[in-house]
This record gives sequence, C-alpha cells and structure tokens, in this order.
Amino acid sequence: MVGNTRNMKKRTVIITGANSGIGKAASLKFAMEGHTVIMACRSLQHGSVIQDGIIAASNNKNIFLEELDASSSASIRAFCTRYRDRYGKLDILIHNAAYIDHGSPHRVNDDQIELTFATNVLGPYLLTMKLKDLLAGSNDARVLNAGSNIIKHYFNPKLELELDNLIGAYTGDKPFSVYNSYRNSKMALLMLTFRMADEFKMDGIRVYNLQINGAKMSKETLRKFTLPWWMIAGVQNLFFRPTSFMADSYYEICTSAAFSETSGKLINHRLEIMVPSKENPGIADQVRQLTGAGIYPNYADRTDMQEKLWVLCRELTAPKL
Ligand SMILES: NC(=O)c1ccc[n+]([C@@H]2O[C@H](COP(=O)([O-])OP(=O)(O)OC[C@H]3O[C@@H](n4cnc5c(N)ncnc54)[C@H](OP(=O)(O)O)[C@@H]3O)[C@@H](O)[C@H]2O)c1
Repeated sequence: MVGNTRNMKKRTVIITGANSGIGKAASLKFAMEGHTVIMACRSLQHGSVIQDGIIAASNNKNIFLEELDASSSASIRAFCTRYRDRYGKLDILIHNAAYIDHGSPHRVNDDQIELTFATNVLGPYLLTMKLKDLLAGSNDARVLNAGSNIIKHYFNPKLELELDNLIGAYTGDKPFSVYNSYRNSKMALLMLTFRMADEFKMDGIRVYNLQINGAKMSKETLRKFTLPWWMIAGVQNLFFRPTSFMADSYYEICTSAAFSETSGKLINHRLEIMVPSKENPGIADQVRQLTGAGIYPNYADRTDMQEKLWVLCRELTAPKL
C-alpha cells in the first residue's frame, strides 16, 4: 500500500541515530525532498561528517545536527530545551536509534536502568512526551518507531515481557542476553506505539511502528557485536536490503496521504498494515506467522501489559519530566 499523494508542505523532522545505517539514509531522503532535518546523534564529531555529506548531496542547507544520547534522560531533557529555543516546531519524530550490541554484558545508564530498555523504550517515550506539545501544534504530526521482526519470538505463547528486572544490577534466573533484551525492547516499543496512538488521538498526533526485516548493517554496527553475533549478522547482511529501502519506507509512512488517517498500527516493509495472530491459528496462518511479514504476535495487543508498560515509563520519567 504505497500512497502516491502526499503532504507537499515542507516538514520539520527529527531523526534519532541519524549518523549511520537507516537513520543516515532517511536523513538523506528527507533532505533530498527539501525538508528541514534535525539529526539527533550522540557524537557531534561523527555526526558532523555525515551532516556535511548530506548537505552537499542534497543541496539542502536546512540540515542540522544536535547532540542526543537516547539512553540518557538528562541528555534528552537538554536536547528538548535546546530544540525548543532553536526550532520551535516539529512535524515528524522518528525514533530510529537503538542499542543493538549483541553479545555485550549487562549495562545500565546513569539512572541505573538497563541500557537496551533505556535506549529503545524509555528514550522514545520521554522524547515524545517532552515534545508532544510541539507535535500537537503541527497540522500533520507523525511519530514513527523503528520496530523489528525479532518480535516474532512472541508467537511462542510462553514468552512474557519481563518488566521486573530493568533497574540496577541484573538478578535474572538465566544469563543476561542483549539479544533477549533487544527482542523485549522491540515488543515493548510496539506496545507503546499502540498505547501512545490512543493517548494522542485527541491531539491529532499519529503514531506508527515499522517492522524492519533487515537492512544492510555498516561495519561500525557489526563491530559492536561480539563473536559469534558479528559472524551471524555478517552472513545475514549479505541478504539484507540496502538502507535506502527502509529509508523510503520511513518517508512514505511519515508523508504519504495513504497513512494520514491511520494511527497505532504496525506496518511491514511492503507498507501493509499488519494484523494480530489468531488464538488458534490454522496451518496457513501458522506459515504466515512463521514468516511474520503480515501477522504480528497478538501478545502486543494485551492491554494489561500495555497499561503496565505505560505506567512504568511514566513512573521512571515522571519525577523529572
Ligand atoms: N538493520 C537491520 O537489519 C534492522 C533490523 C530490524 C530493526 N532495525 C532497527 O532499525 C533501526 C536502525 O538500525 P540500523 O540497522 O540502521 O543500525 P545502525 O546503523 O547501528 O544505527 C543505529 C544508530 O543509532 C545510534 N544510537 C545507538 N545508541 C544511541 C544512543 N544512545 N543515542 C543516540 N543514538 C544512538 C547509533 O549511533 P552511533 O553511531 O553513535 O553508535 C547509530 O547512528 C534500529 O532501531 C534497529 O533496531 C534494524
């Protein structure tokens, strides 16, 4: 479902993790189309090289770089204060940055929150809430969360989102795994998408989640993985689509009229709205579930878990919001 009509108005767009991979390709895409892009990156030194390249390639001078560590509530707050002063408006917010460092040990941020959850869930929540009023002032506000087909693990009915071991030292029964934390964080981000879309309905802010099945990873990204993860990812990478493919999907979802009446949906790489799995799937549905391209685990629709997550995000950020 690709819309060939779109809002032609020039938009102001924030893209987190804009210095590499899909975020970099998306920044270039929005720049080429003449929009104002705020590249929110944790390294200004690294980001400025990419920013210069995008300005040169697009001939668009409205490409700005701002420091943002999506895992840090202090950095997010400082970013939002600067953002208000410097830009004062926002139409599109793309939560692209993610902590993916498979094989790494358990890590926490400055607030003692596990780094995968802090970066991939709490960061997008806090950043969106802090900028919500600016989004509400846009006549076509859209928030896009970068999802992953890793949530397919939740087709296993025994799998539960663990929200109890996110603060402080790791005390789980099984050895800590970034892969599992990443899987959980992407399910949590999808649940947050659904809940946030409901919460933001009255403000006219639409919220989407794009299920990414694979996009070529840079050498820098692969280097973040330890053995055997970088070998596995390196082989997968041979079959992955170029990052520009996913960048085009970001662009379609955020600008196309086809999505202007849609919110709170999971969208696949074919730009189709995905549907939840059935309670008792037949053979055909089981095959579709395995490929995961049209169906998502119905666990994501669990409103009790969405509520628990929503309250947790609010509590972990509220004192300082
Ligand atoms: N590529 C795939 O196959 C695939 C599959 C499923 C989902 N996804 C999702 O797609 C999105 C983009 O991934 P990608 O493949 O393009 O990965 P990537 O090339 O590694 O890009 C990730 C970006 O996020 C940034 N980042 C990480 N932690 C950050 C933090 N705390 N604050 C600010 N920025 C931070 C990185 O910055 P640094 O350069 O400073 O590290 C980098 O720019 C992610 O949400 C990922 O989960 C990707």
